[in-house]
Amino acid sequence: MKGVILAGGNGTRLMPLTSVTNKSLLPVYDRPMIFHPIQMMVDSGIEEILIVTSGKTAGEMVRVLGDGSQFGLKRLYFTLQEKAGGIAHALALAEQFAEGDKVFVVLGDNLVFGADISHEVRRFANSGPGAKVFLKPVPDPERFGVATVDGTRIVSIEEKPRQPKSNLAVTGLYLFDETVFCKIATLKPSARGELEVTDLNKLYLREGRLRCAMLDGDWIDAGTFDSLVEASRMAQQAAVSQNRLAVAA
Ligand code: DAU
Repeated sequence: MKGVILAGGNGTRLMPLTSVTNKSLLPVYDRPMIFHPIQMMVDSGIEEILIVTSGKTAGEMVRVLGDGSQFGLKRLYFTLQEKAGGIAHALALAEQFAEGDKVFVVLGDNLVFGADISHEVRRFANSGPGAKVFLKPVPDPERFGVATVDGTRIVSIEEKPRQPKSNLAVTGLYLFDETVFCKIATLKPSARGELEVTDLNKLYLREGRLRCAMLDGDWIDAGTFDSLVEASRMAQQAAVSQNRLAVAA
């Protein structure tokens, strides 16, 4: 399975910080934000990653990440999203890279602490057709994609609903089978002019092939000023407990 990290878009909610650099390169405690999703992919057994980045900051992204060997990656690729056409639009750029394989997709501003999802990734790699999303109960579901479920089956999924039907946020971690690119090709832009990942997930839902797993540990979408500060606090706490474990061992 291949890994794709989406770090395109304009990062409008974090202006003027994102006029300095890409949102995914902003500091989260002791490292650039994107180090977190990369490390999560490496820990899940992914060896090849494509980063989709935006034109303005592409040079900085390459300079910071290099050839990926600092993370133990076999290969690190980059591509450019010329305009912020949405998450599914950014993912479409990974079609050649995927070479007909399944893909593990993570949004560059989604950080996870204290969870091991390698078994879910492995299980998906060895399973039949479909897609899987990771859910997390949150106090403010209207900020996210929101799902209702029946066991591991998704029953409904909506993008930022005014009146959420559940408290289950759809996190920015997605497992897609090889039909994902054909599906994206059929999507129409939403009212805000973007190809939406929720519309993509709805195509899997309509086929009865959208499943879910609950995400253990802590999760944060670091795309606002407050959540960026909170992400640093979570990363600091994770580093402190890792150091404690190392000292104890
Ligand atoms: O964080 C989880 C949420 O992420 C999900 O619950 C939502 O269903 C999903 O739509 C998304 O919502 P956001 O409003 O947080 O998406 P945002 O526009 O902030 O984009 C998230 C990341 O995706 C961004 O950091 C970079 C990447 N992206 C986004 C756009 C619009 C791209 O690579 N290209 C794009 O054109």
